[in-house]
Amino acid sequence: MWKGRFAKDTSSLVQQFGESISYDWRLFPHDIAGSIAHARAQSKAGLLTQEEFEHIEKGLREIEADILAGKFEFKSSLEDIHMNIESELTKRIGAVGGKLHTARSRNDQVATDTRLYCRAQIDEITVAITVLQKVLIDQADRYAATVMPGYTHLQRGQPVTVGHHLLAYVEMLQRDKGRLSDCRRRLNVSPLGSGALAGSTINLDREAIAAELGFDGVTRNSMDAIADRDFVAELLFTISICGVHLSRLSEDLILWCSSEFGFVYLSDAHTTGSSLMPQKKNPDVCELTRGKTGRLVGNLMNLLVTMKGLPITYNRDLQEDKPPLFDSVDTILLVLAVNTEMIAAMEIREDKCLAAASDPMLLATDLADALVKSGVPFRTAHELVGKAVAESISSKTPLDQLDLEKIDPAYTHAMKSVFSVDTALKARTNIGAPSIENVKREIARWRAGL
Ligand code: ARG
Repeated sequence: MWKGRFAKDTSSLVQQFGESISYDWRLFPHDIAGSIAHARAQSKAGLLTQEEFEHIEKGLREIEADILAGKFEFKSSLEDIHMNIESELTKRIGAVGGKLHTARSRNDQVATDTRLYCRAQIDEITVAITVLQKVLIDQADRYAATVMPGYTHLQRGQPVTVGHHLLAYVEMLQRDKGRLSDCRRRLNVSPLGSGALAGSTINLDREAIAAELGFDGVTRNSMDAIADRDFVAELLFTISICGVHLSRLSEDLILWCSSEFGFVYLSDAHTTGSSLMPQKKNPDVCELTRGKTGRLVGNLMNLLVTMKGLPITYNRDLQEDKPPLFDSVDTILLVLAVNTEMIAAMEIREDKCLAAASDPMLLATDLADALVKSGVPFRTAHELVGKAVAESISSKTPLDQLDLEKIDPAYTHAMKSVFSVDTALKARTNIGAPSIENVKREIARWRAGL
């Protein structure tokens, strides 16, 4: 399709090196939609008769149906999806197929296809995230009143509930959806009409093409439109951070299902055994989620490094945007699906969680707060309670069984009531805090909002 000035055939090694059809065939529905919109604009501009347009549209639809039915043979000699489809079209409908590329380049074509692909995948990922959120919310509801320790530095800090802990992940996923929708809004402009880099002397109605393809508008600079892959980087970043969130959740679950914590049972369906140690039940789904997140971050780096040295506009390096893009999209969709299934089936061991949260040390902050409420400055209260903690450790007496009034007169008898996890949670009623009522209210808010 570009051989006019060449006297020799392309080396077969170069063909193998340069082909992208082995992966960019996946752009076919977008390539076809873009071509039909482009052809319609050509016919409106008088470049195609109505009959020619109809031939082209019908030919493209038939090619699409054949690809969907697995009856289309992609050829690596035709490099990429754009040339595979165009060449087949001409084969099927004759020379008029050769008119389709008027006022278009593969450069604006691939930029368009990639935007359309990203947009469709953003919508799919958004749905998959919502499904996972719903499963997390159901589990948060089931365990809204299940007390467990909350951790900082992986040291027991203060009591929270399992519901509150799980809702933290619902928040993260909501931000991921926000980033996806930002990315969608920015990418949803049509590059078609930008040509190879400098538009075309043949003016088609860019806005009509954009509208047909569901774009909100058109790109405003042909050179930027051809060179730009920011939207791919944004999507890869958004997918990466979503992966990072799920990787942190995985890490929590890996800890929770260890014998040391014992907070959760993962279903047999979502764990694996050891070929050597018969007793083992391993959280491979969590570990693979953590592992695959490395790949997601790697894909983002891959694209950024590819782009950083490229003079504008198009360079063939840009063809390398698609393997990391496709891989990240496929990976996050699989990660979301498998985590949804696993989390829906998991069971929290409430007795273990409560036992871990029943250490009175977790209420040391509440004891300091009680001193503050009786007029002691917080720093002094912190110091006093610190001493009580030291005394508890050295005398091997649980904090709630020390004779606090003997340690310091600032303590009053009433402060003994601090040592109840229920009281501690009930008091945490401020927005965002883990009282059971709050958690229930948040669950209702999420349910209404999703
Ligand atoms: N397969 C190419 C890509 O994905 C399409 C654009 C080719 N353009 C070119 N000038 N060779 O980037």
